[in-house]
Amino acid sequence: MQAIVTGGRGGIGRAVVERLASNGYRVVVADGAPVPDGETSTATVTHVVTDLTDEAAIKDMVREASSDGLHVLVNCAGISPKRHGAAPQLPEIDVEEWDRVFSVNARSCFLTIREAWPHLADHDNASIVNVVSAVAKAAASGPPGTSFGLNHPAGAHYCASKAALGNLTLSVARALAGRGIRCNGVAPGYINSGMGNATARSVEQAVVRQLPLGRPGTSAEVANVVEFLVSPAASYLTGEIVDVDGGWYPD
Ligand SMILES: NC(=O)c1ccc[n+]([C@@H]2O[C@H](COP(=O)([O-])OP(=O)(O)OC[C@H]3O[C@@H](n4cnc5c(N)ncnc54)[C@H](O)[C@@H]3O)[C@@H](O)[C@H]2O)c1
Repeated sequence: MQAIVTGGRGGIGRAVVERLASNGYRVVVADGAPVPDGETSTATVTHVVTDLTDEAAIKDMVREASSDGLHVLVNCAGISPKRHGAAPQLPEIDVEEWDRVFSVNARSCFLTIREAWPHLADHDNASIVNVVSAVAKAAASGPPGTSFGLNHPAGAHYCASKAALGNLTLSVARALAGRGIRCNGVAPGYINSGMGNATARSVEQAVVRQLPLGRPGTSAEVANVVEFLVSPAASYLTGEIVDVDGGWYPD
């Protein structure tokens, strides 16, 4: 079975790639980051350097990865620009940064899904998982020093882009259901790897104080849920976004 994981060289993506590979998937890792020395492609995991803001590059990557069909697409690439480890306030966000965030976090997922569409296996437990975020349901934090709302390190552009991705997940689930193909999302809260590590210590402490389980999550805990969502055990789940946030954003 063939899988594609975008952002698979990042913190969460790496855990997802390892999990899928250990479950017997051949995985194409599409990430813009260079492949680290000593991490060359294997029979199971193929590394492709792909700029996911580039439509032509996405087309090439998906076509090559799916030549023998496709069972799993995990959209995990994402960016969350910060200022000194904290969320930028809205007036600090210029249009280039806004567009870049939407291009990586939302537009690239539309493109990978559109290109994967004809290759996804019908009625054979194929599925898409979009890595959304708990903050898709929340506002960006208020100005520094204010305590209203939940505090977290993501800007308004990041929150809005992840809300767009969450909504796209619902439309895709409906559009593919007739082919027996599922589309779900996973919404991590505060995870102590990848972009979580770019958070200032003082901001992190404020976040952790809000977490009912009292600690950040791990990328393995996100991979657990992705593993479940792509498995036959989740055969009756589609259009669902599963929070993995230690109880941060109850609903
Ligand atoms: N870490 C958290 O606390 C957290 C919380 C909620 C959601 N998320 C989401 O989880 C996903 C993974 O986050 P992470 O913490 O592992 O971060 P990360 O920065 O370690 O991983 C993101 C990956 O995306 C890749 N990427 C970024 N721009 C790209 C581009 N233009 N083309 C190709 N690849 C590109 C990066 O190279 C990187 O490997 C993201 O979508 C993020 O928004 C993370």
